[in-house]
Amino acid sequence: MNRIQRVIEQIDDPEQTSLLQAACRAALTGGSILRELYDKPHTIEMKGAINLVTEADIASETAILASLDEDAPGIAVLAEESAAETPEEEEQGQQWIVDPLDGTTNFAHGFPFFGTSIALLDCGRPRVGVVYCPMQDELFCALEGAGAWLNGQRIAVTDTRFLLEALVATGFPYDIHAALDQVLAQLRAVLPRVRDIRRAGAAALDLAYVACGRLDGFWEMDLKPWDTAAGWLLVTEAGGKVSDFAGNDYSPFLPRILASNGMLHEQLGNLLT
Ligand code: IPD
Ligand code: CA
Ligand code: CA
Repeated sequence: MNRIQRVIEQIDDPEQTSLLQAACRAALTGGSILRELYDKPHTIEMKGAINLVTEADIASETAILASLDEDAPGIAVLAEESAAETPEEEEQGQQWIVDPLDGTTNFAHGFPFFGTSIALLDCGRPRVGVVYCPMQDELFCALEGAGAWLNGQRIAVTDTRFLLEALVATGFPYDIHAALDQVLAQLRAVLPRVRDIRRAGAAALDLAYVACGRLDGFWEMDLKPWDTAAGWLLVTEAGGKVSDFAGNDYSPFLPRILASNGMLHEQLGNLLT
């Protein structure tokens, strides 16, 4: 817990401290299950034509929910594998938003870019955000108004000002057949204008990578609250900007996200439809 201790020493508010500790412990617990199951044979089921769910998604979610309930009981939870078809926002109070395995396709194929993602929203505002990548043992966390950290070290977005010097990332929706024209139009518009594009396969980590300066921007057109809620706070607390494609205020209950170092935001947004 050393890396969390380093963060906690910088926070005055005991309530914030205990919520951050709860989120970190839960993210690490889920992550250690993912790491343990990574090399074993997987049970793979289909949630849609290309949307997978494995035994690890379920085991991680079960462990995360138990950990949150132990450390911070009584808070509403929206977790991917137990969520209703249409995820509901807790407009009046606190709500944990949990992705027990972001990057399931990567996990199932032995591609080591995946993680757990946990956010605490309060009346829709992000207070705590934690993303944990177990294969790299990287714990990203953010607290509203206090900053963002990677393994206890403060992180910040890049200061890249020109698109041609930017490394950006995106993701493709599971419903790719319906969205193909739009996805290709976005790639066609962005690819010739930037240094390069990555599609690494885990939106929560893509956002964490924007927060720590490994990427200059990220966009995706059809995400769920558990994909982005934690990363949203990571990016904003690291000095970046998060909005929809048109630059409007962001909510993880909206499908489209554009995240950037702030300086490139408008330029990137202008290329997206
Ligand atoms: C997916 C990943 C992927 C993104 C998909 C998400 P999952 O989450 O974040 O990068 O492109 O849209 O649904 O299903 O692996 O938790
Ligand atoms: Ca996800
Ligand atoms: Ca998931």
